Amino acid sequence: MAGLELRQLRKSYGNVEVIKGVDLNIEHGEFVVFVGPSGCGKSTLLRMIAGLEDISGGELRIGGKVMNHVEPRDRSIAMVFQSYALYPHMTVYENVGFGLKLAKTPKDVRDQKIREAARILQMEHLLDRKPGQLSGGQRQRVAIGRAIVRQPEVFLFDEPLSNLDAALRVDTRMEIAKLHQNLGASMIYVTHDQVEAMVLADKIVVLDGGVVQQVGSPIELYQRPANLFVAGFIGSPKMNLLPVTVEAVSDGKVTISSKDLAATDIAANSSGISAGETVTLGVRPHALQISSSATLVGRVALVERLGNETNVNVELPTGGQLMAVLDGDQPLQIGHGIALGFDSSDAVIFDGEGQARHL
Ligand SMILES: Nc1ncnc2c1ncn2[C@@H]1O[C@H](COP(=O)(O)OP(=O)(O)O)[C@@H](O)[C@H]1O
Ligand SMILES: [Mg+2]
Repeated sequence: MAGLELRQLRKSYGNVEVIKGVDLNIEHGEFVVFVGPSGCGKSTLLRMIAGLEDISGGELRIGGKVMNHVEPRDRSIAMVFQSYALYPHMTVYENVGFGLKLAKTPKDVRDQKIREAARILQMEHLLDRKPGQLSGGQRQRVAIGRAIVRQPEVFLFDEPLSNLDAALRVDTRMEIAKLHQNLGASMIYVTHDQVEAMVLADKIVVLDGGVVQQVGSPIELYQRPANLFVAGFIGSPKMNLLPVTVEAVSDGKVTISSKDLAATDIAANSSGISAGETVTLGVRPHALQISSSATLVGRVALVERLGNETNVNVELPTGGQLMAVLDGDQPLQIGHGIALGFDSSDAVIFDGEGQARHL
């Protein structure tokens, strides 16, 4: 049973700190995804857990034991990388079993583990092939097979799908989700793709600049982003963020308006916010609807008709832009006026520091 605890984990290269005090608990069996833009420290944090990078400060525990100075092979982990680096002259069977051979695992035990991994990954018919005779997706499965035979308590994946084409990414993503259900091991998965994070994770850790911005379930992050960074990062298309002026404040409510927006009441934690201040209104594209109450009036700048829904880019009078995703097919004309409204319970206020003011 191996849960993980990260306490104030830090990493510096020279005098540049790239992981800035990360606290995190990962329960046994949980599927955790580290997500964030390129360069935010995802791989570094994963490699620190794997033991491939020294830890500059703080404490890492796996299964309750401090692991800061334990060798990678003694951590009960297995890592799958973006570039799967298979041995080209070996068959799939030999590639999957190579680590076991090095560890001097008896031949019959090795054989049984290789065949079991091949069964789980549905690649029994590929065991005699060499990597050159496999597709990208099949090679990635071999790399995952190499991890499975080690029977680790924790699987670490660093962007394992990014070398695959779009269709294969979706298939392999589902295979990884099934693998997690079947094996019951803890998995930590790194990606810059928020959709991958949303569909795979029990728990998402959003990182930016080596700092955890928010930890939560996919739906928590979508519905209650903690700050502007998470609001803009999670969800596709991105949440609309509009600067607005505070007209009035009462307990649990803020009244806002702008040159683009008619006065609107939004339920919010209003403590410390005062009239006249500029705050940010967040509304998801899917929360906007064509409305006669005309909270927001603009001009249709771009229309994408997908059949089941219609994406509209709207230019506001002051030059700002809005994205709306409308239900069904909406034959809108570019250049025509459009009036949009939203349910105020779908809107979020972000204060001057960019912190969300959920009630
Ligand atoms: N060996 C290294 N030496 C110096 N800086 C590094 C090294 N490895 C990574 N970095 C820096 O640490 C930061 C985080 O990198 P990384 O963890 O690879 O980001 P991510 O995986 O989120 O794209 C980046 O700014 C990167 O340039
Ligand atoms: Mg990386």
